[in-house]
Amino acid sequence: MSKKFNPQDYPIIFSTPLRIAPHFWAGHIPFAMFLVDILRPKVFVELGTYYGVSYCAFCQAVKELKLDTRCYGLDTWYGDGITWGYDKNEVFDDLSKHHDPLYGSFSRLIRSTFDDALDSFQDGEIDLLHIDGFHPYDAVKHDFETWLPKMSQRGVILFHDINVREKDYGVWKLWSEISPRYLHFDVFHEHGLGVLAAGTEVPELLRELLLEPDEQSKLDIRRFFFEMGNTWKPLFDAAWVEYKAVEENKRLKADLQKIQSEIEIMQSSRTYRFANRLRSILNTTLPQGSTMRRLAAKLFRTTL
Ligand SMILES: C[S@@+](CC[C@H](N)C(=O)[O-])C[C@H]1O[C@@H](n2cnc3c(N)ncnc32)[C@H](O)[C@@H]1O
Repeated sequence: MSKKFNPQDYPIIFSTPLRIAPHFWAGHIPFAMFLVDILRPKVFVELGTYYGVSYCAFCQAVKELKLDTRCYGLDTWYGDGITWGYDKNEVFDDLSKHHDPLYGSFSRLIRSTFDDALDSFQDGEIDLLHIDGFHPYDAVKHDFETWLPKMSQRGVILFHDINVREKDYGVWKLWSEISPRYLHFDVFHEHGLGVLAAGTEVPELLRELLLEPDEQSKLDIRRFFFEMGNTWKPLFDAAWVEYKAVEENKRLKADLQKIQSEIEIMQSSRTYRFANRLRSILNTTLPQGSTMRRLAAKLFRTTL
């Protein structure tokens, strides 16, 4: 471990996360809380909040460190091409129920597109920005370019998913283009998190991390936060299992409803009612075990 970095100087790293929900991010919680401690931002904004696992980790750190930070979580809560198809209100309501009583005094969930919310922030106002919205190259580049002017001179931007190469994910590509132009630090676990010092006045403690000259120390820091992030994984994995079970239950209920209404339509049809009537006439008129009864059963493909 680097001489400069001693985890015991930052007890917030060891806080137990309070927001346990489906996520793509939980492995970064100790690192995020550490960043809040060393950066002490005045204004924090997150682009892409979803169930709020990352957002609430930042808010929790702000609250436990008793900082004077205003926080804003932005999302349409409509999903996108990747985190898509989730129930618009269910996720938002679930998050609000957790978030409002704990963090409502300094934090707001803003239901908006990122573009529409731009005018609600002044240029040079944001000290910490977490970009975790739509992940294709063009989308994340757009988010970076449009929000960059909002960053203060001591501003830091975090990019989630810098280490995902699958499908349409393009954050890794943007990261490879822009990170060499700034002081930065990469974390590779949990899809990767890039830390970029966007302004000229890099906060002192962050500067030490970003300028850490010793490669081995960097590896140790990454491994430390990887292990720390894993501590809470079982809690979050259980949340995923519960989420998937609830979704499967919803799907089965919807299937059942569809089948029931198809049966109702079928039962109310003339053909069905005629066939039923005919069956009951044959049942009462044709003697049990008679050849006529067997023939009728065969003809109408039924049991009599
Ligand atoms: C990967 S999820 C965020 C995950 C979250 N940070 C966590 O901790 O799990 C991305 C979210 O960004 C939102 N999103 C994507 N593009 C957006 C846009 N242009 N405006 C507003 N919300 C957007 C989606 O609705 C989705 O909920």
